[in-house]
Amino acid sequence: MSAQWLKDAVFYEIYPQSFYDTNGDGIGDLNGITEKLDYIKGLGCNALWINPCFDSPFKDAGYDVRDYKKVAERYGTNEDLYRLFRTAHQKGMHVVLDLVAGHTSEEHEWFRESQKAEKNEFSDRYIWTNFCFEPADGLNYVAGESERSAAYVLNFFKCQPALNYGFYRVNRPWQKPMEHPAAIATREALKDVMRFWLSHGCDGFRVDMAASLVKNDDDQKTGTSAVWHDVRRMLELEFPDAVMISEWADPPQALRAGFDIDFYLNNRYNGYSTLLRDYDDPEREDHSYFKKDAGGNINRFLDTYLRWYEDTKEIGYISLITCNHDTRRPAYTLTEDELKLAYAFLFTMPGVPFLYYGDEIGMKYQEIPTKEGGYFRTGSRTPMQWDSNENLGFSTGDKEDLYLPVDPSPDAPTVASQESDPSSLLHTVREILALRGREKELQADGAFSVICSEPGRPFVYRRGDLILAVNPDSAEKSLPIAAGNRKIIYKIGKASLENGLLKLGTQSFTVLK
Ligand code: NOJ
Repeated sequence: MSAQWLKDAVFYEIYPQSFYDTNGDGIGDLNGITEKLDYIKGLGCNALWINPCFDSPFKDAGYDVRDYKKVAERYGTNEDLYRLFRTAHQKGMHVVLDLVAGHTSEEHEWFRESQKAEKNEFSDRYIWTNFCFEPADGLNYVAGESERSAAYVLNFFKCQPALNYGFYRVNRPWQKPMEHPAAIATREALKDVMRFWLSHGCDGFRVDMAASLVKNDDDQKTGTSAVWHDVRRMLELEFPDAVMISEWADPPQALRAGFDIDFYLNNRYNGYSTLLRDYDDPEREDHSYFKKDAGGNINRFLDTYLRWYEDTKEIGYISLITCNHDTRRPAYTLTEDELKLAYAFLFTMPGVPFLYYGDEIGMKYQEIPTKEGGYFRTGSRTPMQWDSNENLGFSTGDKEDLYLPVDPSPDAPTVASQESDPSSLLHTVREILALRGREKELQADGAFSVICSEPGRPFVYRRGDLILAVNPDSAEKSLPIAAGNRKIIYKIGKASLENGLLKLGTQSFTVLK
């Protein structure tokens, strides 16, 4: 049973480097987030996910943690984070941190100890072969960098050695089973980190690469799921309101493993990508569903989504995101009008939606050089655009000192410019989220079913007793509908209901109640 607060939750994801700099050093900080809580609440978001803000050499933007219990100096202090928790709670908001469970930085003290030739408490905290010339049986590994004559397994980049949660199927003498005391010790160390932040007021975790813990796992991820069940038991006993959100991208598995929420992420050509990001291959045309007249077919999304939704609606939530720090912003290809419809859809679906900072004003993806292991992802991590002041209001520091350059284009959208334009994307986001806040049936648990998903016709769906319809194309569309006494309570573009016929204008969205 998930925490009650998820039922009407809408998350705002913050990349702390780039949100708001209060001390003029050119990089965002925790006090900046605290200062902007009213802005976030005003959008209609009542929960935050903050990307890793812990001590780190930042070879992967903080997903290489050096000290799990210490806020990175560049963001402030632990006290600043505790104050953020307290202030958010006073405003009825929740704060979720990023838990990098599968690996640490190569500079973490555990790893330093683990690299030593002499056996010690941390020798098996990571996965090592028995000999420096022994490869890791199909897993990525590094050899030749340690005093210890062994090779260690990587979980992602070279800077991220894999923590040892054991092997589900043990094929080699150096592979420890999941029940091995060292694998159990890793699990306990993870719980210790979770307890630390939860007892200081954090409300839960987004878990990085949650499916990656146990190696040589079976297809159902039985081993990794057992670890998370154990973690969940601890939470139920000690922190029953804490939530766990997985980066797993397989809701049936993740929710059965004990997560409250799993993301539907943008894997190439998958259903979610076909909504807003159907462009990955230069040889192919962009048939994104929300791209005007691109001939996109909503069923490419629904095929997987409905299967997952039916399978998981009693046990947890699927999260649809506008974007995240790993993918190109939706404004990379979609216009403001297209974004309005896409967001109207994403924010009126079941589960718990996530808005990535800056997407509410349609911030652009920037073609810029890599920073901190970002590569193409760096273009979605640029500073928030607040107003027309220096550095677009992000920082009072020198331009050269900024974490990343701000959008240089003269028409870069800002919060201030959209604030004064009632037809802006920002206002539309606020309206839709306010509607979701008012209408319980639009929230996480409200029932969902499809009324019409025929290609070329509007997509019409039901949330509880409400009927919603979207027409992403330039051609006007109409369809007969058993609307009963329902009236239009919200629309984007033109929509009307006459004698049982729902008429939808160019690029429109409507809600009937
Ligand atoms: C997924 C995170 O979202 C990504 O940013 C990171 O690089 C990898 N996991 C490795 O932790």
